Amino acid sequence: MNTARTVLVTGGAGFIGSHTCVELLERGHDVITVDDHSNSSPVALDRVQKLAGRPLTAYTADLRDRAALDAVFAAHPIDAVIHFGAKKAVNESTEIPLEYFDVNVGGTSALLRAMGAHGVHDLVFSSSCSIYGETTRVPLTESDPPRPTNPYAHSKWMGEQMLADVCRLLPELRVAALRYFNPLGAHPSGDLGEDPTGVPNNLLPYVAQVAVGRRERLRVFGDDYPTPDGTCVRDYIHVLDVAGAHCLALDRLVEGLQVLNLGTGVGSSVLDVVAAFEAASGCSVPYEVQGRRPGDVAVLVADPSRAESVLGWHATRDLTAMCADAWRFQRANPAGYAG
Ligand code: NAD
Ligand code: WQD
Repeated sequence: MNTARTVLVTGGAGFIGSHTCVELLERGHDVITVDDHSNSSPVALDRVQKLAGRPLTAYTADLRDRAALDAVFAAHPIDAVIHFGAKKAVNESTEIPLEYFDVNVGGTSALLRAMGAHGVHDLVFSSSCSIYGETTRVPLTESDPPRPTNPYAHSKWMGEQMLADVCRLLPELRVAALRYFNPLGAHPSGDLGEDPTGVPNNLLPYVAQVAVGRRERLRVFGDDYPTPDGTCVRDYIHVLDVAGAHCLALDRLVEGLQVLNLGTGVGSSVLDVVAAFEAASGCSVPYEVQGRRPGDVAVLVADPSRAESVLGWHATRDLTAMCADAWRFQRANPAGYAG
């Protein structure tokens, strides 16, 4: 196992993609990225190469551009694809749903067609815990029924269904769909991290921007949930644990579609995250409690045991490490990659 391969990474400049590129390069794989930089900076790819001490080849292109994809496949002996490139903001997906289906479903379909045309059969696909929707089950297993409640989550579920169908009909395909829970953190160097454009939708980038003084206070969306402190509980997972799982998944692909949760199995509340970030940063994170955010569920925690048995993988970093690493990136890059 762990034979060096040439891996195409779509969305390679993004948060999870960039950390995965470092891990791939460090494991000896050659890396080609395709990203349109609609939600990322090319600077992230410079940092990836510096951290790994090895070059990669980067293309700026839209995934839906078949001619551009064909040119990339024609120029490199690609063995496998990791497909991160997608739009990922739940709120935005309710405002521009067709854009989400076009990029997330259309982009995946264009990629599969290009892979087919160039004889590439190995794929790791970014799926999401959001496909479980308004569930009350704790913890969630891969057999729990998907109930997506917004266009983003629907687009990810449609991606999985498309993959399930094509894997049934094209037995040479070897695909893993990894359902990430809530990725957090940054590379421990402080050089690579999460740099969302505009006002962050997600909890940790918002908390980090409050701590660094870019925003006044956190709005905590609801403290009347049936949880120990009344705030929502999530399964936060370090982005490097997610990146490591992708490398293992590449090594362990088998014919057909495998679906795996990527989480820690441990739940943390919004106030747990605030406290952990304050401890890691030494800064106070003022907050005020507001009403519930529409669409939020009280508790979302993974049962990650299938990933353990299939990949021999489990998360190794805790919330303290996630906050310490995110803070190191935020402090070193207060205005993100643009700073
Ligand atoms: P991100 O936005 O940081 O990265 C996505 C990358 O894809 C960006 O660099 C963006 O510029 C690129 N991209 C978007 N549309 C493109 C297009 N049409 N053509 C080419 N490139 C395009 O997001 P992320 O957090 O790194 O997420 C990566 C993947 O993981 C996504 O598929 C996302 O849906 C999935 N996911 C993320 C989370 C999370 O909380 N971060 C959780 C579950 C699943
Ligand atoms: C976490 C908790 C908020 C911001 C999202 C996507 C999901 C997946 C992971 C992509 C919730 C609370 C947040 C704030 C707050 N991504 N919160 N104040 O909603 O669990 O999951 O990311 O696939 O699809 O939906 O993550 O970070 O937005 O929120 O109180 O300013 O923090 O209410 O309880 P979420 P999140």
